[in-house]
Amino acid sequence: MSVKVIIGAQWGDEGKGKLVDFLAEDANVVARYQGGANAGHTVHIGDKKYILHLIPGGILRENVTCIIGNGVVLDPEAFFTELELVKAEGISIRDRLFISDRAHLILPYHKIIDQLSEKSKDTKKIGTTGRGIGPAYVDKYNRCGLRLSDLFNESSFKVKLQENLAAKNRVIVNEFNEDPIDFDNMFSQYMTYAGDLEPHIRDTQLLLYEAWQNGDNIILEGAQGCLLDTDFGSYPFVTSSNPTVGGAITGTGLPTTAIDTIIGVIKAYATRVGSGPFPSEKTDDTGERLRKLGHEFGATTGRPRRCGWFDAVAARYSVRINGFTYLALTKLDVLEKFPHIEVCVSYKYNNETISDFPANPEILNNCVPETVTLPGWNEAIGHCRKFEELPANAQKYVKYIEEVCKTGVKYISVGVERNQIIVR
Ligand code: GDP
Ligand code: IMO
Ligand code: MG
Repeated sequence: MSVKVIIGAQWGDEGKGKLVDFLAEDANVVARYQGGANAGHTVHIGDKKYILHLIPGGILRENVTCIIGNGVVLDPEAFFTELELVKAEGISIRDRLFISDRAHLILPYHKIIDQLSEKSKDTKKIGTTGRGIGPAYVDKYNRCGLRLSDLFNESSFKVKLQENLAAKNRVIVNEFNEDPIDFDNMFSQYMTYAGDLEPHIRDTQLLLYEAWQNGDNIILEGAQGCLLDTDFGSYPFVTSSNPTVGGAITGTGLPTTAIDTIIGVIKAYATRVGSGPFPSEKTDDTGERLRKLGHEFGATTGRPRRCGWFDAVAARYSVRINGFTYLALTKLDVLEKFPHIEVCVSYKYNNETISDFPANPEILNNCVPETVTLPGWNEAIGHCRKFEELPANAQKYVKYIEEVCKTGVKYISVGVERNQIIVR
């Protein structure tokens, strides 16, 4: 029996999808706890590639129950598109895919406002995924959001939707000079969704509580990453939820005492998609090489990811916030062709050395990385299944990451495939 939380330790896209799928082999339940269809979690099985946005990684293991927790903002359109793709692969979802009745709905106006508001910004674009995430969480915290449970009281849903839409249309028309959204179409579309969603809706807090009491193996799957967290990330260039460990509690309703293991998924180098400070970014040939060798293009939007060396300042900060039991180091194979590998160990700001991740984006933006150079290993490692099989310099690199993070690395991923992983 165990309850594991899987958290992105950097700016997202660390390889959470692969690790969730790998660990789901021994799980009974996998639950997503925050974010929405902004996530893109890739799983490779043989020659098949799956990109999951809302549906938990456990869906690819037939005996695993999958839960979309109360902390998620659910876009029914995205959900059904994804569901069709999963079903087309012959994967049965019968009685094993449940959505919290407390999860908030994304409505078309959230997506439109997200996109229009990004378009209207000149220099301060966040580079959102345009999936309506920010505006949906704004409504949640402004106490006017619509939840999955609202769908099943047609008359009150209608009134609430009319009120919300009137307010949103004022913004769309007056602030953005765009056409208002039609109520009738949206309402009837969401009533159709209600019928289709109904078999999946549950009190998932209760389901999870019972699974925990039953001694089941549970995985809580985070989306995004620590440095995109609204509270702890590089604010305001963040997402609008808490990918960090607290989000796993509020986003599922499981008590803190249920959790025994917190796994930080961390890439052997650093990437970020969207704008915002990124001290260890390489905008030269090295960055381009990392992008090319690591296939660093967004799984949701296809945008090229910004790339740079491993940032130990950011990693240590992530370790502190999340209290990782251990790390899963991913994409180590991507570094195999580099003769030298750098690690950013501190920042220089105004002639001072900083070793803690600063809150202020202007400071963070002007931090220059101070790096340590380690030797590469110039040898393919995709076939390695034991730590001892890794070339000496690759072993040294892993040990160095452990040292700077003050946390052990239990899993080392050396390729996209399910079995390309070393367990220590
Ligand atoms: P997530 O959002 O954290 O699930 O990560 P993404 O799926 O967005 O991005 C990670 C990418 O790296 C995906 O394309 C994975 O297939 C790939 N990947 C995961 N682990 C490894 C690895 O160890 N080596 C290589 N080369 N690719 C990996
Ligand atoms: P996974 O789960 C990487 C980024 C966006 C943007 C910022 C805000 O695959 O790791 P949003 O649409 O959330 O309002 O955008 O957050 N972002 C991600 N970056 N991986 C993700 O998810 C992300 N989800 C959002 O690029 O900079
Ligand atoms: Mg991703």
